This record gives sequence, C-alpha cells and structure tokens, in this order.
Amino acid sequence: MRRIVIAGNWKMNNNLEESQNLISKLVEGLSKDKMNCEVIICPPYTSLSLSANLIKGSMVKLGAQNMYFEESGAFTGEISASMLKGTGCEYVILGHSERRSIFGEKDELINKKIKKALSSDLKPIFCVGETLAERESGVTNEIIKGQVHEGLNGLSENDLGKIIIAYEPVWAIGTGKTATPNQAQEVHEFIRKLISDKFSFAAADRIVIQYGGSVKPDNAKELLSQKDIDGALVGGACLKAESFLGIINAA
Ligand code: 13P
Repeated sequence: MRRIVIAGNWKMNNNLEESQNLISKLVEGLSKDKMNCEVIICPPYTSLSLSANLIKGSMVKLGAQNMYFEESGAFTGEISASMLKGTGCEYVILGHSERRSIFGEKDELINKKIKKALSSDLKPIFCVGETLAERESGVTNEIIKGQVHEGLNGLSENDLGKIIIAYEPVWAIGTGKTATPNQAQEVHEFIRKLISDKFSFAAADRIVIQYGGSVKPDNAKELLSQKDIDGALVGGACLKAESFLGIINAA
C-alpha cells in the first residue's frame, strides 16, 4: 500500500498575516486521530520560516515552490537548497508548469534542480503535464515520457525513493476543468509504467504519483480512489482552510 500525500501549493499568495491565519485554521482543523495521509504545505519563500514555527507539533510538513541548483553565489533573486533546508523544508516542488511556461524552465534545468535537491536532503515533488494543444493533437504520452525521462535522467533507484511525481495537465490548472478520473488514471498508469521500464517494478510500485489540476473537496474522493492516484497537489483550493481540509478528509 502506497501512502497518500496531499500537498498545497500556495503559489504567489499570502503575506505573513494571511499565512498565519491560514495555518492556524488548518492545524486546528486537522483531526487529532492518526491519519493515513501525509499533509504538506508549500507557502511562498517569505512565509517559510513563520510556517515552520506554526506547524511544529502538528502532522503538517513544509515544502517550497522552487529553488536554484547552485550552492551559493551571484544568482540574484534565487534561493538555494540549503537555505530551504535551513528553514525547515522537507520538500520542494520542481518543474511546475508555471515555472516551465512563464519562466522558461527546460527539462535539463529541472533535472539539475532535482539532483541538487536530493543531494541536499530535500524531497522533490516533480511536476509533469501536457498542454491542451498537446492533448488535442494526441501527443500526451510522448510529452509525459520526455519530461519523465529527462527530469529523472541520471538518478538511481535509491534517489527515486525520495521523489514524488505530480501529474498536472496544464489545461486543468486553475481552470476549473478537472481531468476525469479515467483521464487522470490513464496517465498515472502510463507514468508508473515508464518508471518500471526505466528503474524497476518495485520502484514503480512504491513511487507516489499525485494528481494536480482543479482538485476540490467534491472531486477529490473520486480522483483519489483511482488505482494509480496516490495524492493531490492542490492550488486554488488550498488557500482556504475549509476546502483544503475537505480534500484531506476525502483522502
Ligand atoms: P489548481 O488546483 O488551482 O488548479 O492548481 C493546481 C496546481 O498547479 C498545483 O500545483
């Protein structure tokens, strides 16, 4: 049985006060009973330190939304893996489609970031996904295959054990258009097959593959009940404690 992982990607939202309000409500609302899912929040850099303090003693874990692959130096505006580690991050989202499309990040750069995260003891949440045009022209599998192969290039099976893959169809992000459970399951199964071919059956069987793209409390249960969907990477719905808790409870 794979674990279920629900992660909230806050994107560029919430100042310190808003972060504090959201986390207080979230921590308060989490069931005190032992839960069978892992919960991660990924606030913006400016709220990481505050968040690390606020989640202490709760089951919530901390992640960042991006990082650079160099250790330190003249990289104005960038943040290193060790800085994230130092604030209490356990996870880092890498290769998000907004990083790819708005900031021009390519597979090769994402691969360098994944390697640096791993060697810095941070667990990557590695995002892949096709655009609407790609889906409509029937190349979804080809695109996913390219992203998975290049993103995970040069990694060992041991490395893979520390990675979560998030399948986020670009056309479903922030659009309210969720992939149907079948559409998502199909790609998740395909990703697991890619991992099995590239690494091993055991590695594929173990790896957590999250779905992301307009996940809401009312569609979470059906998505998460698919065989190869092991969690969710949530955008909009993680900005309100009630809806994020709704998704966690569905899990
Ligand atoms: P939405 O849930 O707002 O569609 O965003 C998904 C996402 O991009 C999470 O990383």
